Amino acid sequence: MTQPFDPAPFHDFERAGWQRAAEHYPKAFGDLTSQAAGPLLDAVGSSAGLRVLDVATGPGFVAGIAAERGAVVTGLDFSAAMIEEARRRHPSITFREGDAEALPFNAEQFDAVVMNYGMLHLARPNAAIAEARRVLRAGGRYAFTVWGAPELAIGFGLVVHAIERYGNPHVGLPEGPPFFQFSDAVECRPTLESSGFGAIDVAMLRLTWRLASADEVFAAIAMGGVRTAAVLRAQTPDAIAQIRESVRHGVESFWTNDGAFEVPMLSVLASATKK
Ligand SMILES: C[S@@+](CC[C@H](N)C(=O)[O-])C[C@H]1O[C@@H](n2cnc3c(N)ncnc32)[C@H](O)[C@@H]1O
Repeated sequence: MTQPFDPAPFHDFERAGWQRAAEHYPKAFGDLTSQAAGPLLDAVGSSAGLRVLDVATGPGFVAGIAAERGAVVTGLDFSAAMIEEARRRHPSITFREGDAEALPFNAEQFDAVVMNYGMLHLARPNAAIAEARRVLRAGGRYAFTVWGAPELAIGFGLVVHAIERYGNPHVGLPEGPPFFQFSDAVECRPTLESSGFGAIDVAMLRLTWRLASADEVFAAIAMGGVRTAAVLRAQTPDAIAQIRESVRHGVESFWTNDGAFEVPMLSVLASATKK
């Protein structure tokens, strides 16, 4: 499918952003995105000896859990800083620097390909889906997660709405695919179908962002993210103060009596089989 925009500037913007965010990402998002690793791996039936490719592995959270289950895992990411962190955490797993949109592997090399919260950062998600299919054996399983729409992944929703209300969301970033494109089953299913997958399932995951401080959502997205972080950096100091205050206020409504805030972060888990 042809893109309505040139994907190269967005791709380079994302890679530079992940290089910058890599040192903050594990603390900002690790406890949260790791919650999806079990269901993601269950969806591809990860088991001892299964050859699993974890695309956009970041610090290797999913790769690590797959290896604990006995899978033979390879992790891939286009950020050298992320790969360094993944190798530091999991010295016995093979990690490679490379691009989800042009995988450096032979055809039919893996039994399963997974991607945890990588899809929404890709300049050409359809190319990545086609590449996942190419490296899978026939009958191999593919699964990915993305955040739900802003009203379901509330932490993101609070920041997105605060920027709309108090700041300027249009700050001239390189154009990319819509962040929430795959948050919708209506989008996932036909894309997977037309890419040569069958047995498609799209499910919701009920993740919870557990936080000790109401300031952590803003800090995580500002330091450990890319696209929204860049929008935040482009705001005026006054707007930033209002956005931060608004997000803090929103998070405060999720106080629980056991000493933490628990913000719902619903996610979409899509899985399919290579035909
Ligand atoms: C939100 S993080 C997800 C990390 C990890 N999978 C997790 O479960 O937390 C997105 C990751 O995708 C990687 N990424 C984005 N675009 C990529 C691409 N085109 N090829 C490979 N990795 C990519 C980033 O470097 C980053 O590590």
